[in-house]
Amino acid sequence: MAFIVKKKINGKEYYYLNETKRINGKVKTKTLAYLDKSKKEAEKKAKEIIKNLNKNKKEVIQDKISEMEKKDITINELSVFCKRKGFVYQSGEIYGGLAGFWDFGHLGVELKNNIKKEWWNYHVYQRDDVVGIDGSIITHPKVWEASGHVGNFNDFFVVCKNCKKPGKIAQNEFGKIKCECGGEYDIANAKKFDLMFKTNVGESGEAFLRPETAQLIFSNFKSVYENARMKLPFGIAQSGKAFRNEIAPRDFLFRSREFEQMELQFFVDPNKINDYPYYNKIEKYKIKILTASAQEDKGEESFLSISEMVEKGIFKNKWHAYWLYNSYKWFLDLGIDEKNLRLREHRKDELSHYAKSAVDIEYKFSFGWKEIFGSHDRGQFDLGEHEKFSKKDMKVLDEETGEKILPNVIEASFGVERAFLVFMSDSYFYDKARENIILKLNPKLSPIKAAVFPIVKKKEFEKLSEEIVAELKKEFNVVYDKSGSIGRRYARNDEAGTPYCITIDDESLIKKNVTVRWRDTGEQVRIKIKDLKDSLRKSIDGESILNLGKLVNTRKK
Ligand code: GAP
Repeated sequence: MAFIVKKKINGKEYYYLNETKRINGKVKTKTLAYLDKSKKEAEKKAKEIIKNLNKNKKEVIQDKISEMEKKDITINELSVFCKRKGFVYQSGEIYGGLAGFWDFGHLGVELKNNIKKEWWNYHVYQRDDVVGIDGSIITHPKVWEASGHVGNFNDFFVVCKNCKKPGKIAQNEFGKIKCECGGEYDIANAKKFDLMFKTNVGESGEAFLRPETAQLIFSNFKSVYENARMKLPFGIAQSGKAFRNEIAPRDFLFRSREFEQMELQFFVDPNKINDYPYYNKIEKYKIKILTASAQEDKGEESFLSISEMVEKGIFKNKWHAYWLYNSYKWFLDLGIDEKNLRLREHRKDELSHYAKSAVDIEYKFSFGWKEIFGSHDRGQFDLGEHEKFSKKDMKVLDEETGEKILPNVIEASFGVERAFLVFMSDSYFYDKARENIILKLNPKLSPIKAAVFPIVKKKEFEKLSEEIVAELKKEFNVVYDKSGSIGRRYARNDEAGTPYCITIDDESLIKKNVTVRWRDTGEQVRIKIKDLKDSLRKSIDGESILNLGKLVNTRKK
């Protein structure tokens, strides 16, 4: 209970707001705030403070996520949300923006970095057979001649004969693809459009911004093999910028002109291309797939096991099947709903010039099923071409037979921005009761791991909050949030995908514990301040935070 007290200091009167509480059977009195010298002013202020105090307490108790629904948002709504929250801005927006280029804001950069970090952890640190590199964006132009990009990497700008709308198609799609309105494209007047950005390097002339990261892996293959002392089969991973002068950038980040890729090239002895040692562990796993033949017959998706896909020749070998499965698992492990994922086999007429076979992972966006990942069996194409163009030996020695081998390459290629869209779309929920968005990102990906609040503005609470923030910041991206009501602060952090809201209250000062609220249900547990770091670490790693403390409110949905 809170009440006003008058204190005389050096003969002058001052009014304070005190509070009594029964703690462990004993009644304790605390000063909540200094009010004023005048009784009238003090009463006014006290009324205000008590009102806020009660409101906050009520909000903490009543914070319950009662009705949560998965929101299917359009890509435009997502881009508006991303801008409002500080995830993504159009690049150069103050000058009207530049199509196909995007800047990442204070939350966006964290999500993007976390996606790349999780990818690297999974593909490099957790394995013994993959090492990383970081190649240059501009490299020797011969690299792009050898790879076939000079000459092959282009699209055609076409106009619909019926509605006159412009479109972009590849040469192998001439006569096969129609405009959205059903009209034929005017192929006779199709204009070739080079997808590689050109630039100049000093005096030496024309060069290109890389359109994929893969070629830097191939051109460095021999050095990495020797210096990292790798043995076949092994992989090289790289994440970094790629540039494509897309004719029609569209769908927010989906088709941009500057984007990032996370690519892994896995090098296998062609004679051992089916020797994936743990095949029996994955062969029965079933995944929804749109096969090439189903596309030709305008058929439906089917569920096929990995071994059925290998038997049907969708994967020409078991190592390719494994890398597709492993990449698909990455999305699942980070919480993507499997019903929104499927595979799509490339038809023969759309295979890239370097690929023997290709299978994409697609995500069901609001604008349709779209490619988010591409896997290719690149055979010996790339190393063979670099060998021809550079006249350097790209073969490695088979120590058992003494033979020299040109490895076969299996590629697993992710787009960072497309993964970003997938994680945002899949985690976008709406809390009907509180009318705010809840971004149910996997805590590993959440831009901010925890927000720390003093329950009310009070010096002791603020001091303890600041100390907790300083300690947590040594390990996690944590924010201190003291503005607005508790309800507003929860809502603000739910929208940013912050998994844990930590509140400091009276009990925190006495018992040295805090409440930790779990974003997805609104349930709260009390955790000792000394255990906080450890609990957050465990919970980010997958354990429910609700198992790591004492439940304070039964807020189950
Ligand atoms: N090294 C092979 C390669 O680059 P790709 O299918 O052209 O293959 C691989 O690209 C991935 O890169 C795609 O699955 C997609 O995630 C991403 N990507 C490609 N073009 C993109 C673009 N214009 N904007 C954003 N991401 C793109």
